[in-house]
Amino acid sequence: MLSGKHILLIVGGGIAAYKALDLIRRLRERGAEVTPVLTRAGGEFVTPLSVSALAGRKVFSDLWDLTDEAEMGHIQLSRAADLVVVAPCTADLMAKMAGGHADDLASTLLMATDKRVLIAPAMNVRMWEHPATRRNLATLTGDGVLAVGPNAGDMACGEFGPGRMAEPLEIVAAIDAALDGGPLAGRHVLVTSGPTHEPIDPVRYIANRSSGAQGTALARALADLGARVTFVTGPASVPPPQGVDVVAVESAAEMLAAVEGALPADAAVFAAAVADWRVAGASAQKIKKGAGGLPRLELAENPDILATVAQRTEGRPRLVVGFAAETETVVAHATAKRARKGCDWIVANDVSPGTGIMGGAENAVTLITADGAEDWPRASKAEVAARLAARIAEALG
Ligand code: CTP
Repeated sequence: MLSGKHILLIVGGGIAAYKALDLIRRLRERGAEVTPVLTRAGGEFVTPLSVSALAGRKVFSDLWDLTDEAEMGHIQLSRAADLVVVAPCTADLMAKMAGGHADDLASTLLMATDKRVLIAPAMNVRMWEHPATRRNLATLTGDGVLAVGPNAGDMACGEFGPGRMAEPLEIVAAIDAALDGGPLAGRHVLVTSGPTHEPIDPVRYIANRSSGAQGTALARALADLGARVTFVTGPASVPPPQGVDVVAVESAAEMLAAVEGALPADAAVFAAAVADWRVAGASAQKIKKGAGGLPRLELAENPDILATVAQRTEGRPRLVVGFAAETETVVAHATAKRARKGCDWIVANDVSPGTGIMGGAENAVTLITADGAEDWPRASKAEVAARLAARIAEALG
């Protein structure tokens, strides 16, 4: 799909720069031409020689290099490409882009280009979550800059959380989507994610341990393939992805209303860990200690959002995918759940505490379809998401 496409790849300074080498290889395997630009900081992590050897062409790094200007001016360099990709994109590069700086070759190219720009941010988790980076990201996406990642996981600095650069294949998928619209262009996909909070009174609620990480990764992967994604999320602990329509809800009842409001969709994926029960007649005032002994909470069953949508006679999405969080006899329970709820596929995972899956960075799933059960190898939630998104694209044709 990338045959004959020309990518201007800016490699920023970060430990993830080594992954840019693999990215160049993957792009060239797919027939793309890659013109590499190495920032001064990028050159501290990978050598110009390895970058140019993989790209099969000269590396540009200095704005003031007269030979470069004689060969190709920076304006021409920024316009000759079909897409400008910044990987890794550091916090500093994001700040420069958001602020419109042009004091070195990379920032000047980014200012001068008339092509779309895709960034793959990579930085320490605190830097990623810093209000300045959040502001810069909002400015950049408002300017039409596309972003892929970062993913959550163990980081080179020893911390854990979002900040790790997207994997080369995820970046390739995002490049594909940016250039071609991607295999899901024109499709609307609905994703539910995160836990729900069921109120006991105005200050207390019943919740569960879902982080929303898998649903978030999936929404991002679907958007990377070009889908218009409506992301209905409960109060998750990971931020929603860029480039999707976010509908934030608290309770199962609100989630059902948001889902029904977002239909029609070509496909719907229910990754949320919806509370099965709510407190019947939640108190309008804070329940006080003392008077009348211990409070008694009466529970009522919540609507099953997946089953409600899967069993619609009118306006049912063509593909309805559920998740099954199980702690024992995973495949048997999930297969029964698929039949009971009337969905097309179930993505089953073992959420026993020993697996570290719930709230963790990895997932090991079994995909259950009408044809049977398929075990997928344990992988990062981003990789599981990319694989599932690709299957959804295949199924929608
Ligand atoms: N689900 C839903 N609405 C609910 C409960 C679950 O949409 N009220 C969806 C989840 O998003 C998931 C699937 O149903 O896609 C299965 O969720 P899971 O918690 O595994 O199953 P339950 O229906 O809760 O069944 P059980 O508690 O018996 O395991």
